[in-house]
Amino acid sequence: MVIVLKEIRVGLVGYKFMGKAHSLGYRNVPFFFPDRARPVLKAIAGRNEEGVRKAAKELGFESYETDWRELIKRDDIDLIDIVTPNHSHAEIAIAAAEAGKHVICEKPLALNAEEAERMLAAAEKNGVVHMISHNYRFAPAVQYAKKLIEEGRLGKIYHVRATYLQDWLMDPDFPIAWRLKKEITGSGALGDIGAHIIDLTRFLVGEMTEVVGAMETFIKERPIENEPGKTGVVDVDDAASFIARFENGAMGVFEATRFAAGSRNRNCFEINGEYGSIKWDLENMNNLHVYLSEDDEGLQGFRVINCTEEVHPFADAYWPAGHIIGYEHTFVNLISELMEAISKKKSQKPDFFDGLQNQLILDAIEQSAIDKKWVSIPQRANHIRV
Ligand SMILES: NC(=O)c1ccc[n+]([C@@H]2O[C@H](COP(=O)([O-])OP(=O)(O)OC[C@H]3O[C@@H](n4cnc5c(N)ncnc54)[C@H](O)[C@@H]3O)[C@@H](O)[C@H]2O)c1
Repeated sequence: MVIVLKEIRVGLVGYKFMGKAHSLGYRNVPFFFPDRARPVLKAIAGRNEEGVRKAAKELGFESYETDWRELIKRDDIDLIDIVTPNHSHAEIAIAAAEAGKHVICEKPLALNAEEAERMLAAAEKNGVVHMISHNYRFAPAVQYAKKLIEEGRLGKIYHVRATYLQDWLMDPDFPIAWRLKKEITGSGALGDIGAHIIDLTRFLVGEMTEVVGAMETFIKERPIENEPGKTGVVDVDDAASFIARFENGAMGVFEATRFAAGSRNRNCFEINGEYGSIKWDLENMNNLHVYLSEDDEGLQGFRVINCTEEVHPFADAYWPAGHIIGYEHTFVNLISELMEAISKKKSQKPDFFDGLQNQLILDAIEQSAIDKKWVSIPQRANHIRV
């Protein structure tokens, strides 16, 4: 008999940007999804006592630890949520799984596929629920796009065009941060934002079989923060472009950059199929643009669907039609699904398998950019079921 948990006790590691986004998610699940297991914000871990105490208070956690290892040891924690920089994901996730804790980890899953393989193996061996925080899958418009594709409304998919454009690094005086150091981040724009468009297109179109890519670092040296006159070498990409072939015959064109002036966070895709096309843009995330070639001559064109109607996935948890939702609700939706998965001990996508497959693609793009040739994507068996 499956025991259904009514409460899930959360331990959060890290507390800045994503710490706040995930905390907001946990706090809002009981409000918008009252039928789901209730997250209990038990404890938060950070290295600086003053900072972590303040964060626990602000984000609404009952207690704090100054070492994530202590958090994992606690028997009043069911779920470890990892929102720290990428180089720490593997160690924390593996320790958490070995202690029998369920795990959610931010993207990219790891620094490389070897680490990601070990994370998946630990989660699988210990039978814990595992998820990766690819939150954009949980926008109602993206979920609706998936439904249209699965129903065959676009027919055979020919093209995918996906870009993730930002501009926050264009100032050459912007100091070296952890996202610009390979040993901490793995790769630059590629793993940070390219990972999101890889996940969205894997979700919507299917697996990639091969890629060819190019990467560039435009500003190769930057100031070191709080060390006047000193500079450090940037050893990750500022921009990455790649093309891909998919198992189902589709072709994909991708671009991830932090040097697209004027584009603050333009996460977009366009998919062209046999019977029509769809387009989505995070900065107008409630809308899905749909073109269906079956429309009458003279009326053909992209229609704009505001995905806030009851029929749109997740939308009925919120407001009446037309009353839009925002970025933060992608986390509320994702975490509501995580609560359901843990309470019923069932798997939930995207999981560490998706994180690994994503990482295999990231690694292949980097290899291709070095070798200047196409690289095949290894396909791992998706056999993980908790
Ligand atoms: N899903 C998304 O859309 C999205 C958006 C931004 C970041 N991310 C991912 O989230 C993760 C964190 O990014 P961020 O933007 O929140 O970073 P951040 O720099 O804002 O916060 C990182 C936090 O981790 C803490 N930290 C670092 N090392 C630690 C350790 N050993 N023990 C405990 N705490 C530690 C820092 O003190 C800080 O609180 C990264 O993996 C990043 O790629 C995902």
